[in-house]
This record gives sequence, C-alpha cells and structure tokens, in this order.
Amino acid sequence: MSFDGYKDVINEGDTVILYLTITQVYSVKAEGKTLNKKGNLVENVFQTPYGALKCGELVGKYYGSKISLSKGWGYVLQPTPELWTITLPHRTQIIYTPDISMIILQLELCPGSIVVESGTGSGSLSHALIRAVKPHGHLYTFDFHQTRSETAQEEFKDHGLGSYVTVGHKDVCEHGFGDDLSGKADAVFLDLPHPWLAIPHALKVLKENGGRLCSFSPCIEQVQKSCLMLLKLGFQEIQTTEVLQTQYAVQQRHLPVINLDFLKSEKDGSESEKKEREVQKVVTMVPPPSLPGHTGYLTFATLPPVWARSLQISLNQNDMNEAE
Ligand SMILES: C[S@@+](CC[C@H](N)C(=O)[O-])C[C@H]1O[C@@H](n2cnc3c(N)ncnc32)[C@H](O)[C@@H]1O
Repeated sequence: MSFDGYKDVINEGDTVILYLTITQVYSVKAEGKTLNKKGNLVENVFQTPYGALKCGELVGKYYGSKISLSKGWGYVLQPTPELWTITLPHRTQIIYTPDISMIILQLELCPGSIVVESGTGSGSLSHALIRAVKPHGHLYTFDFHQTRSETAQEEFKDHGLGSYVTVGHKDVCEHGFGDDLSGKADAVFLDLPHPWLAIPHALKVLKENGGRLCSFSPCIEQVQKSCLMLLKLGFQEIQTTEVLQTQYAVQQRHLPVINLDFLKSEKDGSESEKKEREVQKVVTMVPPPSLPGHTGYLTFATLPPVWARSLQISLNQNDMNEAE
C-alpha cells in the first residue's frame, strides 16, 4: 500500500520497485506465494539477470535497502507514479512521464481537483493524476474495454488508492461520462482514437465556471478534428504542443582548448611559452546520436465560464469563417 504515502518497512502484499541498474528496473509483489499460469499456488520467485529473488523474503526489509541476489545485488524502493510508469504491465500503449508532467501542469491540477479521464488503458497516467489531486480530489476514469477497466480498478485498490478513484466501464464517445458528473470536473483528459466525439460530453462535465481540457493524439489529423470541435463548442486558448526530451551524455573527450595566457601575451607583448591552442582532456556534454521519437500531440484548451460561452462561440465562429 505504499503508493499512498511513505512508509519504512515492506509489508506483505506491497508493490515494491526492484532497482538493479538505470535500465533494469522492475516492480514485484512482496508475497511468498503467487498463482502460476495454470492457476496453481507456487513460490513467488522473480528472475533477474543477477539471479533469482524470493519475493516473500522482502517482507520486513526497509525500503531503500540493498538486497543480495545470487549473482549481484539490487535496491528495493517505494513505488511512485514515475517508477510505476516504467515498470507496469502494459495492457495498452501508455503515456510516459515527460508528457504526464506537461499534462498535470497544463491542466492546473492540485490537491482537491476533480478530474475526468478516458481511456484508463494501463493506468499509467491515472496513477500520476491521483497523486496530483489526492487527498481531497478525485479521479473518474472510463474505459470501454471491460477487462482493462476491471484490472485497473483492482490495481488501484491493491495500491491503496481505491478511495481517490472511480473506474467506469463505458463508451464515452457514445454515452458520455454520466449525468452524475455534470458540472463537477475541473479538468478532462482524453486519450482516445476519436477524441472529437468525446469533447461535447467533456463540455457537460466541466464546471459552470469553466475548466481545462487536454487531448493526447499521435496523429495530426486527430488533432485537427479535435481543434475544430473545441472551436465550435466555444473553448478558448487552444494550443497543441509536443514534448520532446533530449538527454545529453556527459563524457571525457580530447578537445582543443584556447589558451587564454597566450592570447593575453599577444596583446601586451609579454612572452608565453604556451601554444595558442592545446588539446586537453575535458569533461563535456555530448548530444544524443538520435532524438527520441514522437509520442503524441497534446492539445490543451480552456472552457470559459458559462456566462461567457455564447460570446466565445460567436468569436470562434468568426475565426473559423476567416480560416475557410
Ligand atoms: C492508449 S489507451 C490509454 C492509455 C492510458 N492513457 C495510460 O497512460 O495507460 C486508450 C484506451 O482507450 C480506450 N478507449 C478507446 N475508445 C474508447 C471509448 N470510446 N470509450 C472509452 N474508452 C475507450 C481503449 O480501450 C484503451 O484502453
């Protein structure tokens, strides 16, 4: 249950992050027994490149401690939404931390916010949304795939997050988010193949005094359709961004370095034995050979307060007419 706040010691049933190296990070369950594919109860052993880990032996260990494996060692860490995102079982494509951080910032989420999300998928974004809005806020997340929504619900409960999230099973493009949520949300997030069909329903759940919407789409054609729908419905501040992360490597390289003593001696006429440039071994920053690929476009928009909406719709209509 360590997703919901910090704790010192690993308890039976905790989800624990096993950190071996920066590229070898896994999530395991601190349980002595597990069900195998045939449904039989067997010892819970996790195989790593550095030997096997008997997961039951994690119970009682301190979070952050070093644990021995038969051919090496690792560290056991508390799960966070970021670590969960890189270790979770994939049931769908997921949203990763660089996009997630932009989504949370741009949706202006804080403890107490009410957020509506669809689709739930593998729950990668949902974990980060829950942490941003808890303890007084709530996430309502919807997916039309029954097994996915049931599995996500079990996972949230298992992670001790059940009271901060409600999982719904429905087609939100067809049926919307439900009358119970009308006028309740501060923000709506969509990660759907046809987000423009869900935007009219998103309008209904946003609060009377307005709110923020974000739609994640891999293709620009999806973005175009969503933006036209947002304009038609009176949204404003419509902005599409793409988050591209560049990771520089720090390396030692031999580089020619300008000798400032030499330049000074040239200027004032004094003598210097040093050359103008010397090849020195320096620590330098090296750009990556290739940039990480495109994940998706993030379209953000603001819904104005209810009293300003009809004015905004006519202003947007003018923009659309001018664009035609
Ligand atoms: C790419 S996944 C979402 C991944 C999620 N954002 C994450 O970070 O784990 C898209 C999900 O939307 C669901 N979905 C697609 N169309 C839907 C609809 N009309 N109503 C509800 N869910 C839908 C799919 O079943 C799928 O699980």
